[in-house]
Amino acid sequence: MNRLDWSSQPGRPLRGRVQVPGDKSVSHRALMLAAIAEGDSRIRGFLEGEDTRATAAVLAQLGVRIETTTAGERVVHGVGLHGLRGVSQPLDCGNAGTGMRLLTGLLAGQAFDSTLVGDASLSKRPMRRVTDPLTQMGARIDTREGLPPLHVHGGRSLHGIRYALPVASAQVKSALLLAGLYADGETGIVEPHPTRDYTERMLAAFGWPIRFEPGHASLEGGHVLHATDVDVPADFSSAAFFLVAASIVPGSELRLPAVGLNPRRTGLLQALRLMGADITIEQQRESGGEPVGDLVVRHAPLRGIELPEALVPDMIDEFPALFVAAAVASGSTLVRGAAELRVKESDRIASMAAGLRVLGASIEETPDGAIIHGGRLGAGSVESHLDHRIAMSFAVAGLVAGGPVLIHGCSHVATSFPGFLELANGCGFALRAVD
Ligand code: S3P
Repeated sequence: MNRLDWSSQPGRPLRGRVQVPGDKSVSHRALMLAAIAEGDSRIRGFLEGEDTRATAAVLAQLGVRIETTTAGERVVHGVGLHGLRGVSQPLDCGNAGTGMRLLTGLLAGQAFDSTLVGDASLSKRPMRRVTDPLTQMGARIDTREGLPPLHVHGGRSLHGIRYALPVASAQVKSALLLAGLYADGETGIVEPHPTRDYTERMLAAFGWPIRFEPGHASLEGGHVLHATDVDVPADFSSAAFFLVAASIVPGSELRLPAVGLNPRRTGLLQALRLMGADITIEQQRESGGEPVGDLVVRHAPLRGIELPEALVPDMIDEFPALFVAAAVASGSTLVRGAAELRVKESDRIASMAAGLRVLGASIEETPDGAIIHGGRLGAGSVESHLDHRIAMSFAVAGLVAGGPVLIHGCSHVATSFPGFLELANGCGFALRAVD
């Protein structure tokens, strides 16, 4: 991947309407369930990101016809639960942990072998969290000492297990539920903290009997998925950068329409409000079985907080943006119980601490969080560490820095947020690609 660098500096107050792209988690799941359903499913609001396109390409390799009807829309011609066809070539999940972990669960129950590979960042991410419980279900998966590539053996007969997740992970839960579709008996999962329940909601929408409530999910094998259309809400995690940006730039007011407000995703909203942010939800409604609403955010002075640990799983992808808010707030912010940040697309505690320090912030790293002392940011040159959310967070930091923030390695932004630069500049950022 080429190393695209960005420069971000103070622009004008952020104003206007910002339509962020479709939800990544929902787009991945919609493709997978539609692929193994009976009949044709239309996915509207599909995220045209590299991560979700990689999942579409893998499913196409496995024999699923996926039509791009228009940008942001796919029609998936489902092949049924047992209709996927194996290939000898590796299946490339790109940068997508969600793609790789969920596909591992899906492929564990197939009649054929598969090899899943990923890019440099994904190749460093822990996979035992999925392969261990899948092995307990009867799967056989070879790893490179717990890391990708993964070789998933086919022709195994799976049986349901009752599994208490050691870490709160929607990806692991979803991988087990997908394997459970192919297993004899019941697959039951208990979580230490409830995580996003899109797989559960979507399985129900595709007609698979499933019992779930926050922290628990269980299903039995041997049913059929029936094609259905899916409306993908705008991704709260993409909206997050604009929520922080408008909060910290004086004179700003942004409207973000039709953002997904699943309660397992909106922890940042609560955290920012505790910090004094002015964010309102207008026209809250349901779309495709998910709560959505228009978010209106206005500038407000932010103060540091002791982040309630219970919010951590509900904002697990939003910490890079939160760190920027904390670095310019008055007072200190304490983050605890967020060790999972160390195994995301990069070690997000280390990546943010390193970059913020370059910009002059005072931040103490802890094994499971950080203490961020608010103040002023200056100019500097920071690394994205091949992590889309780190790159976008420093683009936000540049809005309030004393001079330009140069961000190295921004090409990965396209994994989750194609068009970020244009959308950001459209509402008042001063962000440009540099040679
Ligand atoms: C995701 C779950 C989260 C999140 C990731 C997407 C999903 O990961 O960080 O970006 O779609 O299930 P974990 O489940 O590993 O916490």
